[in-house]
Amino acid sequence: MNSQDRLIVALDVPGATQARQIVQTIGDAATTYKIGKQLFTAEGPQVVRDLVASGRKVFLDLKYHDIPNTVAAAVRSAAELGVSMMTVHASGGSKMLRAAVEAASQSPAKTKPMVLAVTVLTSLSDSDLLELGIAGDVLSQVLRLGALARAAGCGGLVASAQEARELRKALGEDFAIVTPGVRPAGASAGDQARVVTPKDAIAAGATYLVVGRPILEAPNPAQAAQQIADEIAAACRQEAVG
Ligand code: C5P
Repeated sequence: MNSQDRLIVALDVPGATQARQIVQTIGDAATTYKIGKQLFTAEGPQVVRDLVASGRKVFLDLKYHDIPNTVAAAVRSAAELGVSMMTVHASGGSKMLRAAVEAASQSPAKTKPMVLAVTVLTSLSDSDLLELGIAGDVLSQVLRLGALARAAGCGGLVASAQEARELRKALGEDFAIVTPGVRPAGASAGDQARVVTPKDAIAAGATYLVVGRPILEAPNPAQAAQQIADEIAAACRQEAVG
């Protein structure tokens, strides 16, 4: 995989005008954009269609969690929009995950989206899980749900770099791990409690890195994206020889 394809820019902006502006500014420095609940709720599917039509890849991060039939239908709709990756909650259970994977793989769309599972939201702590009636710590739950998602045929998981290391150890190589909370050396952490550099994320086993503010808020977003893509490329080369 081209190392530029490993970088996913989080398009966390309020509307289509800002989205268009930032995508244009970044130009060739990035190819994949994550559209989340903020932009999708504001602008609807047209923002996805426009981005796909402009030759970019879209990661639709709407974290579906519903009965299997409803999730499968939503996955089919997303596939028709031309998205390359999308998220569901692993806690929706095996049947829901399998329904999502089947809907993606059987879609007549040209691009069959990769279904990524979210395990435990990184905003939740051990005591939050206890409150939800889940005994055991966050990491055990992440590993349990990660294994469930993999067995259901999901193409990968969204996981912090710390979880990525454990997930790779436990689940092996042949699925994608998408890691947010990435900051190039020296950048501000923003509201992320734990951040890692691109190099550390790759070393931890991440396949794709999601980066938002360090690119969106940079004085020169194209240069910031290119620098991160270069850091990813260097880290991949190092992993390959190491
Ligand atoms: O601006 P920043 O680089 O922190 O953006 C990271 C993106 O990844 C945001 O869209 C955020 O919602 C998402 N994300 C995250 N942590 C998670 C899951 C998703 O930061 N655990």
